[in-house]
Amino acid sequence: MSTVLEREQLRQRADYTYKFNSKTGRHGWLRLTPAYSVKIVEELIVDHDQAKRVLDPFCGTGTTALSAAYHGHEGVTIDINPFLFWLAQIKTARYAPQEIVATHNACTSVLDLVRRQSIEPVPAPPIHNIDRWWNAQSLNFLKLLRAAITEVTHDDSAERTLLLIAFCRSLIGLSNAAFNHQSMSFKDNGQLDISFDNDLTSAFAQDVRFVLQGASENPAGIAHVVLGDSRNPSDFVEGLFDLVVTSPPYVNRMSYIRELRPYMYWLGFLSNGRDAGELDWTAIGGTWGIATSRLVDWSREAQHFKSDRLANVLDQIAHADNKSGVVLANYVAKYFDDMWAHFQGLVPVLARGAEAHYIVGNSTFYGAVVPTELLYAEMFETLGFTGIECRAIRKRNSKKELVEYDVVARWK
Ligand SMILES: C[S@@+](CC[C@H](N)C(=O)[O-])C[C@H]1O[C@@H](n2cnc3c(N)ncnc32)[C@H](O)[C@@H]1O
Repeated sequence: MSTVLEREQLRQRADYTYKFNSKTGRHGWLRLTPAYSVKIVEELIVDHDQAKRVLDPFCGTGTTALSAAYHGHEGVTIDINPFLFWLAQIKTARYAPQEIVATHNACTSVLDLVRRQSIEPVPAPPIHNIDRWWNAQSLNFLKLLRAAITEVTHDDSAERTLLLIAFCRSLIGLSNAAFNHQSMSFKDNGQLDISFDNDLTSAFAQDVRFVLQGASENPAGIAHVVLGDSRNPSDFVEGLFDLVVTSPPYVNRMSYIRELRPYMYWLGFLSNGRDAGELDWTAIGGTWGIATSRLVDWSREAQHFKSDRLANVLDQIAHADNKSGVVLANYVAKYFDDMWAHFQGLVPVLARGAEAHYIVGNSTFYGAVVPTELLYAEMFETLGFTGIECRAIRKRNSKKELVEYDVVARWK
């Protein structure tokens, strides 16, 4: 078993982008790594201590690669989202004590500039209805803070990246975003009762301390983060893997681009809604903006995954008593076609006897249950995997048909 300390180290880094604001009682966002998921990943890695190379083709915030590295393995992970690629690289990097001290000092200089307001603030990022996200005071603070971080630190330095991670935590901590369901919503844009000088700056200083605490514990192993499309993993990674542990996108219309847009706009990974939609179109399972409109005319390629089970579900969704039935049937079909491409592309990078674990939930559309776990199992079987099992992990919410699974398969 991993020690309490190892778990705590993992939690620290895994939680970089989480935040609990005790003033407003608001949880931060980015539910890519819920606590139970970190725990399952951790247990799988610990149970496979003979694995040398661990692959996570759907990196998210980098939990699997980080966990693999903490346990002395080589963790390799792929994500299509440039912000998550950037974030996971920072989380899995090793930091020298001098870099931690330098970041701490840079934070002092940054806050000094901000307090004196002796720097030109950056323009507000082009986020739609930005005043729903931040009140005027918080927005001004963030604009100054963002400018000061660039002013005080060098391009690509550890100080810059670590301060930007803390900036991400602060921008969400100060926002009106609420997280009481899978996706986010807004609270009333009330004025926070805090003073510019003390409360905002000390919130950032606290975020920096949190980030530096995680950064000062270096993993024993190595983690590589790759920007790429896991519909064809073999184009992006080299060599063979003994273990695949991943939480792929679910068939639930969740758009990671939509969820991550405040970070992506503030850090310059996005500059307009069209690019956001384009990125969503390349991401599996996401559908937002133009990605949804494109589904209207989308049709399956000849080489798509052929399954009676899937055909039956698609038929039920398309004929549901709802005007969006056909679009959503297309959405579900595209998801499984993309995952089929993924599984086919995975085979060439698996060592003989490699074990794959896909932590995934099923979903429902207009009362039709989409049995994601069974469809994954069917794909594995078609490709010649053995030892296929769908292990139920937990019920997802009050709807009794929604369950999370670990779909396990072994490469022969
Ligand atoms: C459920 S999240 C992964 C969560 C992750 N286990 C964690 O700990 O944060 C799924 C991830 O798949 C990524 N993704 C979606 N389509 C992809 C593709 N075609 N290639 C690579 N990554 C993709 C998304 O950007 C998202 O980060």
